[in-house]
Amino acid sequence: MVKQSILDNNQRLKQEVDAVAEVAGYLWQKGWAERNGGNITVNITEHVDDAVKALPAISPVYQIGTTLPHLRGCYFYCKGTQMRMRDLARWPMDNGSIIRIMDDCASYVIIADKAVKPTSELPSHLAVHDYLLAKGSPYRASLHTHPIELVALTHNKKFMEKDVATRMLWSMIPETKAFCPRGLGMVPYMLPSSVELADATIKAIDDDYDVVMWEKHGVFAVDTDIMAAFDQVDVLNKAALIYIAAKNMGFEPDGMTDAQMKELSDVFGLAK
Ligand code: 13P
Ligand code: ZN
Repeated sequence: MVKQSILDNNQRLKQEVDAVAEVAGYLWQKGWAERNGGNITVNITEHVDDAVKALPAISPVYQIGTTLPHLRGCYFYCKGTQMRMRDLARWPMDNGSIIRIMDDCASYVIIADKAVKPTSELPSHLAVHDYLLAKGSPYRASLHTHPIELVALTHNKKFMEKDVATRMLWSMIPETKAFCPRGLGMVPYMLPSSVELADATIKAIDDDYDVVMWEKHGVFAVDTDIMAAFDQVDVLNKAALIYIAAKNMGFEPDGMTDAQMKELSDVFGLAK
């Protein structure tokens, strides 16, 4: 007999998890997901029906490490810690799980399908989801990944200065600013999975970025759904590749002019 999955009787939930699996495959194909690198969480609370709410815990109660008042009773799909994106792409419910936040807003339990412990970056992911809900944001997905060229940029102090990388990347190809209109925030190096990193990530997102760099580590991106979060990182990394291609041809790329950038902002109605 085939074992039942929480997704079997919930089409909307299945669609969300299928999208995570699709993006996980892209991350592997792009070379951004070595070993267990990167993680994804999606706030799936709006897809949770009474049958899911009635499911018992299949894990002990785990502490988040911080208290997140807006997450009471929320549900998340989370990549499992130490799990590979390339495996998650094929078997999302063996390499990730669904968690329920407890009433104390400081702990959670796993409810399905298997007791796969969520990503070590859960403090950052959940703190960001808490922040987004508090702000009334429609964003429900967060993505952490290791895009090679964007990470390489952060090994140069110049690009860690506010909006230096943003301006360079936007000027490489017009689509970058159009489809990543808030640019690239910068978070100085902090220990992976720490609450300090979570706090700094929120501060950067609050400064009005959808995508922030963790220095010498990776990006953290938020958007309405996981495909949209992936797209923002993808356009930024494409711009970094164009910059590198020009440098490899032996010259510093000119970049679009300030007038061309302003025209783009006016036509697309971009704030920055
Ligand atoms: P996890 O396997 O715990 O998700 O960690 C991967 C990672 O990229 C940590 O920053
Ligand atoms: Zn990482």
